[in-house]
Amino acid sequence: MLNKISYRLLSADELLEQFHRSRKYSTDLISNLSAEDCQAQSMDDASPAKWHLAHVTWFYEVMVLKPFEDNFTYWNPEFAVLFNSYYNGLGDKHPRSKRGLLTRPSLTEVLQWRSNIENRITKLLKVKSSAELLWLIQLGINHEQQHQELLLTDIHHLFSYNSLFPSYSSANSPSPTIKKPFQWLNGISGMMEIGYEGKGFYFDNEAPKHSALNQTHSISNRLVSNSEWLQFIEDGGYQNFKWWLDAGWAWLQVEKISAPLYWSKDDQSELCRFSLNGNFPLPMHEAVSNISYFEADAFARWASQNLTDFAGARLPTEFEWEAFAQSNSKSSNDLFGKVWQWTSSNYTPYPGYQPWSGIAGEYNGKFMVNQMVLRGSSAYTPEGHSRITYRNFFPTHARWQMTGLRLAKDGI
Ligand SMILES: [Fe+2]
Repeated sequence: MLNKISYRLLSADELLEQFHRSRKYSTDLISNLSAEDCQAQSMDDASPAKWHLAHVTWFYEVMVLKPFEDNFTYWNPEFAVLFNSYYNGLGDKHPRSKRGLLTRPSLTEVLQWRSNIENRITKLLKVKSSAELLWLIQLGINHEQQHQELLLTDIHHLFSYNSLFPSYSSANSPSPTIKKPFQWLNGISGMMEIGYEGKGFYFDNEAPKHSALNQTHSISNRLVSNSEWLQFIEDGGYQNFKWWLDAGWAWLQVEKISAPLYWSKDDQSELCRFSLNGNFPLPMHEAVSNISYFEADAFARWASQNLTDFAGARLPTEFEWEAFAQSNSKSSNDLFGKVWQWTSSNYTPYPGYQPWSGIAGEYNGKFMVNQMVLRGSSAYTPEGHSRITYRNFFPTHARWQMTGLRLAKDGI
């Protein structure tokens, strides 16, 4: 059944150009990695790079080629189980926590499979161009972009367990530098139009556009920095229950958390942060990253009472963030491309939300419980993937993504 498509579909040629660019970017991301790097899985939530490369290919095979290609045959029908992530409508799945054990197929075969699927999609688009086919390929491109970010966050996590501190890239650190002095800005209050309506691609969870009420509030002109986070640590913030939600305090005890992920002391007791560039002294004026919702929430409560500038601080709602982004998308340079920003909003459907029809209906809607919304995008997000209405989401304890925070407060 055709999904409701309210935006301009790309032409087959435009789509093919985007398709090949996104496919090439995925293999570019592993150009500095060995087959061993691409094989390992560091935890249940993370996946091997090889699995990401295979899964996004599986997506095209089952979502696009299978329904649209004449005389369709699988590259290997058993891959339909190995590389199914969470689509119950598509049958069995290999357990998520055991993806690193998939030594077969080899990386070489996965890359051959990728080429095969790319050739077949290219041929298909030369003979068929229905609206649903074009839409599914556009979804496939956006899906692959999401996995490109996950591939980087998962390699970052994997390398953090290696005392050699491998450097994925010698390019300049992608972390942002905070130059602006802190300032409260007047938030946009009153009834707001929230959600996507326009001509580009969007995910179903960004729609429908609807009215939401923002109370009078202020929002920070910049992200919270590592130096501000260090003050929280040095003031015993991780040891004082009064800053923490009860579930966060329990999580802290069990996981023995006392700093953002990737912070450690080196042999000379110097505080360092491990990034994809290696392990270096903590960059004080960069945005804090790799913190959970629990930590972001606790920091705001602590800062509200301990830092004069931040009196009254709390996390913004996703609607306050979106209103801020609508009015500052040109003047603010840290809304996107730095760190995802936690909001105090639960990930729930917008009024009138309808999941996509068919198998794509499992993409977003079924995850709308026990997760918090993050807005913006990170340094690992592919160019052009995010937008003002984009809703990312993770559970309250997750912190292996590039996640930071921007503060808000009631009143002006
Ligand atoms: Fe996926």
